[in-house]
Amino acid sequence: MSQSLGKHEVPHRDGPQLRSSVLTRGTVIIIACLMPFTMAILWQWERGFAIADHSTPDVVASVQNQARTPDTPSTAQGGEVADGERLYAKHCEVCHGVAGDGLGKAARYLFPRPRDFSAGGLPLASTENGIASLEDIEWVLAKGMPGTSMRAFDSLKPAERRLLAQEVLRLRREGTRRQVTRAMLQAGEEPVEMEVNEAVEQMTTPGQPVALPQHWASDEAAIARGKIAYRTLGCENCHGEDGMGAADQALFDSAGEPNRPRDLVHEPFKGGRTREAIYLRIVVGMPGTAHPAAPGLPEDELKDLVAFILSLARPPERLLTNHDRREYAEVHAYRRRFVQ
Ligand code: HEC
Ligand code: HEC
Repeated sequence: MSQSLGKHEVPHRDGPQLRSSVLTRGTVIIIACLMPFTMAILWQWERGFAIADHSTPDVVASVQNQARTPDTPSTAQGGEVADGERLYAKHCEVCHGVAGDGLGKAARYLFPRPRDFSAGGLPLASTENGIASLEDIEWVLAKGMPGTSMRAFDSLKPAERRLLAQEVLRLRREGTRRQVTRAMLQAGEEPVEMEVNEAVEQMTTPGQPVALPQHWASDEAAIARGKIAYRTLGCENCHGEDGMGAADQALFDSAGEPNRPRDLVHEPFKGGRTREAIYLRIVVGMPGTAHPAAPGLPEDELKDLVAFILSLARPPERLLTNHDRREYAEVHAYRRRFVQ
């Protein structure tokens, strides 16, 4: 380090004249060399060069909760569907599969498994009926799901994330339609188009967004009250008295995979460790997983619970690999390795 710094300090022995002519010649050569790149970049730009959009957390947070635009169509129209399909094939198919059934080529190496869009819920929903909205999916695409292989696609443009979210919803409706039709056939009924449409509509239409509190409590008294609520509401039956997970629960998600309760002390949260995110996870639950919804609780009690959950975090953060997560999905193995 000091050596390379020293190098710059060596004074030029050539006179100022010689130095400036070398500089001028050098500059001309550099500009000449860069010309083709500059032209290429300008040309790409003209054709819609993908400029990275590094959304700030604030902007991203506002996507899920404040900046709801009810007029945004949840389905893409005409050529946009093709754009959405192309983006999906490029960025998502390897994990979520061609039909969005979670059976992409890489899926068998991952735990938790990539979501099957055609069945079960999406855990990070923020609506009263637990059905993820377009904005919820855009939020996941911007932020990713910490502690899983679902990364943030924050280098894509917001418009591209919207097309992808619309594509997810399209795959979701198609998958739901296949399932409804199959269920009717199995029940010996002739699937009538209108009835199928109605069922699909009901299963895929998001409800109102859950209203978030305007003010939050985080003082010691709120944490103490939250701790009591955590016990009386039965959170500790799954998450353990200390928040690190109860040893005697064998839980499964809607796909039949083992579903270990989150270690609330050390592990990252899929929806992030913000009070808004935790509030939503408690009210809405995590559809498709064993973590239940707790609707209808008074707002004050929910705020206390959020304060208590936030107070549990302690370093080091425990980042497990896909292999570890599968291995410790059986609660006893996890307890043996980390807790006892
Ligand atoms: C490397 C594999 C991988 C890739 C690539 C990937 N995903 Fe995922 N995705 C996952 C996994 C794993 C999960 C499940 C996380 C969980 O539920 O625990 C997931 C979950 C999701 C969810 C559920 C979110 C919710 O609300 O619960 C959505 C939606 C999603 N992915 C969309 C996409 C889209 C769109 C793309 C492409 C832009 C994509 N994913 C690319 C692995 C991947
Ligand atoms: C029946 C068992 C069960 C009960 C009861 C339960 N949880 Fe969970 N919880 C889970 C499981 C399983 C997960 C992990 C789900 C997943 O990511 O697949 C989880 C995940 C979570 C997360 C992580 C959210 C995220 O973004 O990753 C929080 C926070 C949480 N639970 C808090 C609570 C609170 C507070 C209560 C009580 C109101 C509660 N849980 C009750 C099983 C339970």
